This record gives sequence, C-alpha cells and structure tokens, in this order.
Amino acid sequence: MKYRVLLTGSGGREHALAWKLAQSPRLEKLWIAPGNPGTATVGENVPVAATDFEGLKQLALANQINLLVVGPEDPLVAGLVDWFAADPSLSHIPVIGPCRRGAQMEGSKDFAKQFMQRHRIPTARHTTVTPATLAAGDAFLDALPAPYVLKADGLAAGKGVLIIESRDDAKRQLRHMLQGLFGAASAKVVIEEFLPGAEVSFFILTDGQHYKILPEAKDYKRVGAGDTGLNTGGMGAVSPVPFVTPEFRQKVERQIIRPTLRGLRQDGIDYRGFLFAGLMNVAGNPFVIEYNVRMGDPETEAVMPRLASDLLDLLDGVARRNLHEKPCAIVPDAAVTVVCVSGGYPEAFGRNYPIAPLPDRADCLLFHAGTAIDNGALVTRGGRVLAVTSLAPDVAEARETTYAAAAAVRFRDVYYRTDVGLDLCPPPADNLPDAGQPATHCPPNA
Ligand code: AMP
Ligand code: GLY
Repeated sequence: MKYRVLLTGSGGREHALAWKLAQSPRLEKLWIAPGNPGTATVGENVPVAATDFEGLKQLALANQINLLVVGPEDPLVAGLVDWFAADPSLSHIPVIGPCRRGAQMEGSKDFAKQFMQRHRIPTARHTTVTPATLAAGDAFLDALPAPYVLKADGLAAGKGVLIIESRDDAKRQLRHMLQGLFGAASAKVVIEEFLPGAEVSFFILTDGQHYKILPEAKDYKRVGAGDTGLNTGGMGAVSPVPFVTPEFRQKVERQIIRPTLRGLRQDGIDYRGFLFAGLMNVAGNPFVIEYNVRMGDPETEAVMPRLASDLLDLLDGVARRNLHEKPCAIVPDAAVTVVCVSGGYPEAFGRNYPIAPLPDRADCLLFHAGTAIDNGALVTRGGRVLAVTSLAPDVAEARETTYAAAAAVRFRDVYYRTDVGLDLCPPPADNLPDAGQPATHCPPNA
C-alpha cells in the first residue's frame, strides 16, 4: 500500500522526519502543515497550523490523506487524535501520536509522576503542590538536600523547570510559580529530588503492543559551551551515546521501556506513536527525568540519519499494529548535530536576517528549523535557524565535518555551541582549534 502522508509541524525535527519519509518507496506524496523551506524541498508545504484541527481535516479530506504524522506535542495534548477518531469522515486515517490521555505523559508532569509511581518506574522522589498544599511543599523542600528542582505541571515550551541552589530561593520561586510565573502551566508545581548524573534521550516507536527502540541521543540543552547559560530547546545532539553500554541499554529496556508500555496498557491507554524518555544515568542506573510524546528536537536530526530502515514502513507497522514484523536497522556511524541559532536566543533575538547561500556539501545534512522565504530569499525567522548533521565512523570525525559546515552557515549574529560532542570524544580531541570558545559570530550582514 502506498501512503499519502500529512506531517504536521515546522521545525528541524519535521524537516528531518520529512527528509526520511521522502526516501521511502512506499510514499506516494507528502504534505507538511505548515512546514518550512527545508520541508518544501522534499514535500508540499501547506499553510495550515499544526494546531488548526479544522484546517487539518479539510487538508486530509481534499488530498485523501491516509496517514497523519504529528510532529509537535501541543496538538496531541489538545486531543487531535481523539478528534480525528471521533469524526466519521476522518476515523479511517491512522495517526502517529497518542490520544489525549496518552499525551498527558508530557502534558502533565504530575500525571507522569503518578504514572511512574503506580508502575514502579525509577524516577526522582517528588511531591505535587497547589496553592492549597503550599505548607506541604515547604515541608518537602525542608526534607531535601540542595539543589531543588521545581517543575511547572503543564506545557511551558521547555522553560518550566527551575533548578535552584538555596532552599529559601526555592520556596520563593515555588510561590512565584503557583502565582503564574509560567501562566496556567504552573498552577500546579512538581517538586523533585535532584538526580546527579549524565542525561540521555531514548526514543521508542510503539503500535500499542510492540515497540522498536530508535537510536538514543545526547541533547546539549544549555546555550553556552561547557553547559553554561540558559536552557534552550536544544543546541546540538550526538548519537550514539558512549555510556549507553549493552548492560545499560538492557536496564533501560527492562526497567523503563517495558514497564512504561505495560503501564499504559494497564491504564487503558492505547498509545500509538513516538515516546521519548529523557533519562538520567545515576551511577549506572536509569531514572526517568521526563516523558515526551513526540520525537526530540534537535535529537531527531541526529537520530533519523542513523535509521537505516524505511521510516514509513515502520509507521505502517504502527498503523496496522504489526510493528514487530518490521526491520529497524541502525547505522553504526556516529551522528553529530549542531544548531545554528540567531544571536541572543533563547532570549530576545533578531529575525528576517538574510541567510547567505547554504553550504552544499555531500558529506553533511542541513535541516531547516527557523527559516522562511521572504521576497524569494531565505531569511531567519526563529531562534533555532538551521541544524547541521554529519555521520562518520566516530564522533571526532563527525564533529570535524559538522563544524566545517556550520562555519559556512552565514547570517547576521549566527551563533552555535562549539563543544557539541567534545565530551564524547576519547581521548579529549584537539581537532577543533576554537573548541570551548563561548561564541562564534559573523560580522554584521555577512
Ligand atoms: P525537563 O524539562 O523535565 O527536561 O527538565 C529540564 C532539565 O532539567 C533536564 O533536561 C535536566 O537537565 C534537568 N532536570 C530535570 N529534572 C531533574 C532532576 N530530578 N534532577 C536533575 N536534573 C533534572
Ligand atoms: N530536545 C529536547 C526536546 O525535544 O524536548
């Protein structure tokens, strides 16, 4: 069966998914709503927002879509899957993404914590606080050693987590959060024990019964080299992650992945789609930091190039619930992804800067994130502008290629982290003369 696929979203993740889907012999046609100039090179963009349910319906009907792939989390949390299932004209269309209840795994940190407790999945100790239970929140903080982790319960565009050194500050911030620091998202706050360790993102594709584990990745979340500065949506990614040994992977599968998928079934949640487990490796044991109900960004830009098998064939397995029959082969090479951002991100940054002709290199991939076409010219539109990925037998070599290409990406105030993957190169690499420098800037108007 051939697929007429509608993919929703507009970031680097969606370009990477579209790029991979477009390679499938099973693809008849790909539409992306709304997409970006990168997705337009592998499919047809349509100006419908990922959260515009009615617009997506019209698009699906007009183009006889037979598979909907949801990129970002917001439409899932808002119930897009249930909405499609409840509409007789759409209910025959399989959707890659969980129903509203499944999406609560990301949409509510309190829901996710209760889920993990109920199903005995390793995670940090926690308590959930509302204005009515503030005293209990203070008491929980009094019993914890520093630092303190405060999380807005709801979606906060990746900004809802505070890690605070002093207990008094934590109590102050707890009150600010409950009073609306992150809007309605922090009307409830999850206080968590701090887990020391190294983070890794695991990606699972499931049809509700069977699952495949996609390549894992490390995300570089802080804006500055050496993990300094503000948290961002992600400044780079590397896959595979060296500390994910066969033994660690087995623990992840036994202690996290299987209990999670079993727990979803036991709770009556028919979860079909991607599940992203953000894990902390605490002295060799995996703990769940968070679940997301979609692929990661920029991890997808490192993960998709390492998937040797046909992504659309795997999604067909999700749609038909025979995922166990599908091959899911992984390229052994290392992928290094570096995100070129607009200077100032994640705080205020400029937009609509012309992007000089992109480097055209056979040895790397350029995924568009925050780009747009303005009067026929490619310009910057978002904070994260482009993601550069290359594959090589080891991280050091992939870094060299990725950074050579990133250095050739030119727009005003372009910035990228120079140390992505450096910590994963044994022995410490000296192959990048400016590694560790905090910023790379082009002259204005370059
Ligand atoms: P999240 O939005 O849940 O991914 O949290 C953002 C970041 O905060 C994570 O990527 C971790 O680096 C950090 N973090 C969250 N929870 C914890 C925790 N319990 N212990 C240590 N670090 C945490
Ligand atoms: N890179 C982390 C995320 O997509 O949430």
